[in-house]
Amino acid sequence: MSLLYPPRLGVNIDHVTTLRQARGEDYPCIKRALKQCLENGADQITIHLREDRRHIQDADCPIVRNITSDYNKLFNLELATAKDVIDTAIHCSPDWVCIVPEKREEKTTEGGLNLQDESVFKKIAQTVETLRSNISGVKVSLFLEANLKTMEIAKKLSPEAVEIHTGEYAKSFLAKSDKVESYLKDFMIVQQYLVENKIHCHAGHGITREMLPQLLSMNIFEEYNIGHWIISESIFNGLGPVVKDLSEIIKK
Ligand code: PXP
Repeated sequence: MSLLYPPRLGVNIDHVTTLRQARGEDYPCIKRALKQCLENGADQITIHLREDRRHIQDADCPIVRNITSDYNKLFNLELATAKDVIDTAIHCSPDWVCIVPEKREEKTTEGGLNLQDESVFKKIAQTVETLRSNISGVKVSLFLEANLKTMEIAKKLSPEAVEIHTGEYAKSFLAKSDKVESYLKDFMIVQQYLVENKIHCHAGHGITREMLPQLLSMNIFEEYNIGHWIISESIFNGLGPVVKDLSEIIKK
């Protein structure tokens, strides 16, 4: 199924601030990281303001807003439904908000929103409403598992996009498991449903450079949000060159 727009690269810079927060210093400098990403082909900067503020802080959000605007690029803020986090989102006006589930004890986001649970659905519906009525022109994306029933429920919230959780696919890919094929099949099924309903189909979680040729060849996703691998690889090759390389692969 064809894409609604050409694929783009969202660089998640959370782990630049993981390193900063680990020592409570002012480095690595988030402004410097943003500029290196945006000057080397990132189409979007993604950050996750977590309830426990383990990496990105509230004060980082307007910095990301200002610098992405200066470069005429997109700002995607990932968040759960805590009120103080939503208030910060309202103050910094991201272009996109990606709503994710969040558990304090998790190492990272562990899966998509469970919209099949009525109380979760209601909470997300309220959050979407609050965001739309307080952030002019904001686009909403929902972080979901690749499951048709969940897509049908998600459609009721009229999201501009769904970000498919690729974490389990990524683990299978790295383990060379034969489950990869079944994840790809699920991605194709949900993408077809989303495109038919004019909802953009994004990808995020666990993606590394090695997976991109396979994912790109299938023409499923219009946006790739990649963080942990980029920051890890930057230790060896530098942030700018790593982002440039991925951007070239995605845009080829
Ligand atoms: N998309 C979402 C919704 C996420 O929660 C994360 C992790 O914060 C990412 C993308 C980036 O994932 P990774 O750091 O594994 O590349």
